[in-house]
Amino acid sequence: MTLPVMQISNEAATPVPASAQPAILGTYKRPPAEMVRGDGMYLYDANGKAYLDFASGIAVNAFGYNDPGIAGAIQNALQTGMLHTSNLYRTRPGEELAEFLVDHSFASSVFFCNSGAEANEGAFKFARKLGRSIAPGKTGIISLRGAFHGRLFATLAATDRAAYQAPFMPLAPGVSISERSIEDLDAVLDARTVAAVIVEPVQGEGGVRVIDRGLLAELRAMTHERRIALIFDEIQCGLGRTGTLFAYEQTGVVPDMITLAKPIAGGLPMGAVLMTGEVAAVMKPGDHGTTFGGGPFVASVALHVVKRIAEPSLLDQVRDNGAWMGEELHAIMRRTGRARAVRGIGLMWGMDVVEPAAGVVSRAMDAGLLILSAGEYTLRLLPPLVMTRDELREGLECLEEVLR
Ligand SMILES: Cc1ncc(COP(=O)(O)O)c(C=O)c1O
Repeated sequence: MTLPVMQISNEAATPVPASAQPAILGTYKRPPAEMVRGDGMYLYDANGKAYLDFASGIAVNAFGYNDPGIAGAIQNALQTGMLHTSNLYRTRPGEELAEFLVDHSFASSVFFCNSGAEANEGAFKFARKLGRSIAPGKTGIISLRGAFHGRLFATLAATDRAAYQAPFMPLAPGVSISERSIEDLDAVLDARTVAAVIVEPVQGEGGVRVIDRGLLAELRAMTHERRIALIFDEIQCGLGRTGTLFAYEQTGVVPDMITLAKPIAGGLPMGAVLMTGEVAAVMKPGDHGTTFGGGPFVASVALHVVKRIAEPSLLDQVRDNGAWMGEELHAIMRRTGRARAVRGIGLMWGMDVVEPAAGVVSRAMDAGLLILSAGEYTLRLLPPLVMTRDELREGLECLEEVLR
């Protein structure tokens, strides 16, 4: 069966014909296969074809599909009868989840919301309020070349994709992009006008780029000195993906805020901003809000997920399997001659290929393997954190065949 060229990624594109995608707005180019069931590391389409999943619903399904632990957490959460209460009332699950995240990080407070972009927008607002408390014009937000921070007006302004931005100008003012060099950052980080810098410690959509530790260390020193908040966007690279609970733990620096989303609630929508006491202190009742964020149902499930990801044995497995996977990908590059570079950490790998990535993604799907792209010539592999060595090997063998 020949499938049309497709891309499973945030890279939305032209609509597919109405027959293949009735009534849904055409912001994603989807292949015709209809997914009807998931189990373990596999998705199944309506024809019963199995797909080994190296995409995890874009870094969301840390435990694959049909996970009994998540099913149990959902059942338990339902016992209270409270799917939603609003943030006007206290509920225990959100408080417990926040306590867990605070106990396991630098943070002293957590704000819950519903998606990654919303978490970043929240972090921008918190940084601006903090900045204004220092100097009236200290409101600027700087992101880095290659960044992806979301699709809302401020996060889109911080996202380095002209094609995503152009149709929606004007974007939120006061947000700009710097080159990934300390000289450029030094030039743009004006202590009087900049409130925050946002960085993905490992850029995901931008091509799976691990940001240099030296750059992060200098950036931290510079932002401290200039009283600029440093935000780490760990929406894709956080929560176990790199082999530690938070990606910042491996960078040698501690940011002022981190943003989380994707895997946090096992596939239910949730985002979070973790922040220091200094940031938290400027936010007062009424300053920010969300109807659904951190509700008792989603927070119960998230508590289960985050506790499991924090298990040292799971994180060890991610680091071991990740190191092995990196070696295997380098070997595939050497054996096939079909790739130019391999980059990554933990279970987050990118491979620059010598042909458009979308074609490889499509052929892989034909062969029963789900992978992602990250830019025109980069494949992105984000298997579930619990994938076994044998399952990883099976997927990599398939990828090698597909590349040949
Ligand atoms: C690093 C990063 N930040 C932000 C986002 C936006 O998250 P969401 O799609 O949940 O709004 C994404 C999504 O891919 C991401 O990878």
